[in-house]
Amino acid sequence: MSPTIFVVAATGTLGKALALDLRKIGWNVHATVRNPTSPAAKELANAGVKLFPGDWDNEKALRDGMIGCDGLFLNLMPSFTDWKADVRQGKTIIDIARASGIKQLVHSTGIIDMVDDFEPGSLVAVLLNNKKLVEDAARAADFDAYTILRPAAFMANWLGAKLVMCPGLVENGIFETAYKPDTVLPLVDEHDVAAFSIAAFKDPTRFDGQEIAVASEARTVEEILQLLSQASGRQLKAQYLPDEEISEKAKENIFLPGQLASRKMFRFFDIDDMAKWGIPLHTFPEFLERERASVEQTYNQRQ
Ligand SMILES: NC(=O)c1ccc[n+]([C@@H]2O[C@H](COP(=O)([O-])OP(=O)(O)OC[C@H]3O[C@@H](n4cnc5c(N)ncnc54)[C@H](OP(=O)(O)O)[C@@H]3O)[C@@H](O)[C@H]2O)c1
Repeated sequence: MSPTIFVVAATGTLGKALALDLRKIGWNVHATVRNPTSPAAKELANAGVKLFPGDWDNEKALRDGMIGCDGLFLNLMPSFTDWKADVRQGKTIIDIARASGIKQLVHSTGIIDMVDDFEPGSLVAVLLNNKKLVEDAARAADFDAYTILRPAAFMANWLGAKLVMCPGLVENGIFETAYKPDTVLPLVDEHDVAAFSIAAFKDPTRFDGQEIAVASEARTVEEILQLLSQASGRQLKAQYLPDEEISEKAKENIFLPGQLASRKMFRFFDIDDMAKWGIPLHTFPEFLERERASVEQTYNQRQ
């Protein structure tokens, strides 16, 4: 019998990649969804994912969904209106998983050590600290095996709705940013995080207790914009803000402090070390080629 994995946030970037990749290898996937009629939920259902309507505060939906599951992929999205939600929801999901007899956890989180790069009490600092609290709960839950994955910046951040984080880039081709031209960003393809998750579920002994910062490759901001320009056929450029203008501009663009902190994000990753896991990883050009319909939709149909 194929194993069954409960995937949290299966309609999101990371969760959907994993759910679909698990189905491709014939494993069973259970997931809760807030809206069973959304395009992402329908795609999951068509791929054979068993859906349980409900959100992360719906304990009955979570309990029903976890019946018969062997593994839990925990991947939360913070709430920007209720800063305590993800800790509460994460602990609830972990508790229900343990009570349901789920034996293995793969938890995708974030680069929590970046917290020191943000102003204490700021939104990002609170959200990163919340991720740390959920990680602590995951370790303490005493699953037979647990693995923590800390993904780099998603390649998918440069497509679709996630471009809200780069105001101006799609509208006028100019990305006003706190990055420097030579800022090196560790990037990750969501299917590579899925591949690490599947490897962990397949080999719990090897992955038990591992906490892995997962990056597919690294690119400078200039390289990223060049590759996006080539892929989209549009001339995309960055306008690099002088340091002294960033705090004033941040009053209008809430993503600038994150970019400022991410100038040093690369130090948390060891790209060369990734090869030791023996998991094939994707480059940014490969990602853009695979996602060319979305590149076209993002950069050429919204003008
Ligand atoms: N973007 C990055 O570069 C990056 C890097 C490292 C880590 N991360 C972390 O990765 C995580 C996942 O990000 P993502 O980009 O995959 O997410 P995403 O594409 O924005 O999707 C969010 C998912 O969470 C679900 N969701 C949100 N609130 C919910 C609630 N209260 N109850 C049930 N479902 C809820 C959404 O469901 P609906 O479909 O119903 O909306 C959706 O499935 C986040 O914690 C993020 O911080 C992101």
